[in-house]
Amino acid sequence: MKILVTGGSGFIGSAVVHLARARGHRIVNLDAMTYAASPASLADLQGDPDYRFEQADIRDRAALDQIFAAHAPDAVMHLAAESHVDRSIDGPAAFVETNVLGTFHLLEAARAWWTGAGRPDGFRFHHISTDEVFGSLGETGRFDETTRYDPRSPYSASKAGSDHLVRAWGETYGLPVVLTNCSNNYGPRQFPEKLIPVTILNALAGRKLPIYGAGDNVRDWLHVEDHADALLTVLTRAAPGTTYAIGGQAEARNIDIVRKLCAILDDRRPQGAPHADLIEHVTDRPGHDRRYAIDPARIRDELGWRPSVTLDEGLERTVDWYLANEAWWRPLQTRQGVGERLGRAS
Ligand SMILES: NC(=O)c1ccc[n+]([C@@H]2O[C@H](COP(=O)([O-])OP(=O)(O)OC[C@H]3O[C@@H](n4cnc5c(N)ncnc54)[C@H](O)[C@@H]3O)[C@@H](O)[C@H]2O)c1
Repeated sequence: MKILVTGGSGFIGSAVVHLARARGHRIVNLDAMTYAASPASLADLQGDPDYRFEQADIRDRAALDQIFAAHAPDAVMHLAAESHVDRSIDGPAAFVETNVLGTFHLLEAARAWWTGAGRPDGFRFHHISTDEVFGSLGETGRFDETTRYDPRSPYSASKAGSDHLVRAWGETYGLPVVLTNCSNNYGPRQFPEKLIPVTILNALAGRKLPIYGAGDNVRDWLHVEDHADALLTVLTRAAPGTTYAIGGQAEARNIDIVRKLCAILDDRRPQGAPHADLIEHVTDRPGHDRRYAIDPARIRDELGWRPSVTLDEGLERTVDWYLANEAWWRPLQTRQGVGERLGRAS
């Protein structure tokens, strides 16, 4: 299958591109190369005749039309987005422009190309979304495909808006869309502004490890390679119009994630031990969702997908990846906003 992946130079996109190439799919990666993208993430594919890169912005309809015409993809996997909640608090406009308007332009370009190609049944527009659109859970319960939308940050509201557009293009125009809403991802090549890479890199440098509030916010963690596998499973097997919730069934409080990372680093870099002494509680993020958790029964029962990496094993692998790949992360640390406290709102 020839897949047009948007956002392929980002964290999850690059994992999808690697897995899709390993499974023999041809890839066109469309990415604007924002601050969150790393050319190094896909450097190993340079010279691969079945990997193509198009630097383009999903808000640029003319560029999208030209890329669809040039490559005639069998499917779109749409991951391009502004993705950092803290940045969405400081600058929501970019989130509305890329996540809502950009998705609108991509849907229109896909619809025009699909219509012009005779509306092939096998075509898919796969929209990759987040569990954050469902809001915040209390101590109990889990999100699934029937959960009511209740976004609470500019990021999650913009993703919710894009989800609604995608479903509407399926219902109104018959575009063969599929949607997935996934829990928090972690693993190699995650931009060093998210909890896990920030913790690893600060700890290595002997810097404080900031924890928002008490650190008791709970997330359901999924290794990015398991997410990529779930996404390709949905893309190739799900019926048009369907939605799947994806999660790792690995709930953990932020403070416990940080403590686990510190313990792994105590083992790998004993000269800095105990790294947990660097933990520092800082003012909480405004509107910080308390708990996310996914019930992945539908994707397990209908498509046979389940995660393969346990949280403890995945965290160890992630620490080892950052220790071995300083050349990947070091240049990203000088990018705008990295290492600063963002998203406090005033
Ligand atoms: N990270 C998570 O835990 C998580 C969980 C569930 C869903 N998601 C969703 O998965 C997708 C990918 O997330 P990620 O963590 O890999 O994000 P990321 O920030 O690491 O990567 C986003 C990529 O999109 C590109 N991009 C941004 N704006 C663009 C534009 N206007 N035009 C073209 N390209 C643009 C960036 O250059 C970057 O390469 C997002 O849609 C996100 O909402 C993420």
